[in-house]
Amino acid sequence: MSDLERVSLAIEKDLIERFDALIARDGKANRSEAIRDLIRARLIEEEVSAGRGETVASVTIVYDHQRRDLADRLLTAGHDHHKAVLASMHVHLDEVNCLEVVALRGKAKDVRHLAEHMIGMKGVKHGKLVLTTTQV
Ligand code: NI
Repeated sequence: MSDLERVSLAIEKDLIERFDALIARDGKANRSEAIRDLIRARLIEEEVSAGRGETVASVTIVYDHQRRDLADRLLTAGHDHHKAVLASMHVHLDEVNCLEVVALRGKAKDVRHLAEHMIGMKGVKHGKLVLTTTQV
């Protein structure tokens, strides 16, 4: 590696201890490598978000299926944006919880908007958008 710049960071003791434990678990060589990976991931995310080209993404949400209104709203969102929805997978996790993974394609701005709409629906317990691209 060439052109390395040394930086020093001020980080709370508790935070860096937890990070070190995570690094050890993930088998990363050291803090520097782990922090470089984090920075690269964040930059890729930013570049993908800003890109004018086509983005592909997955949205993962966990919700309570007994909330029929939520299931209906998710279904409606999918139909309203059917051109952006490539596929979806529904898993009945247990008696109550459903896992839904939706693959999306389109302009980053539109994909993010739809994903945030779904994740933000009342009754969604957890949601995560992963934006990616074939252009990296
Ligand atoms: Ni279900």
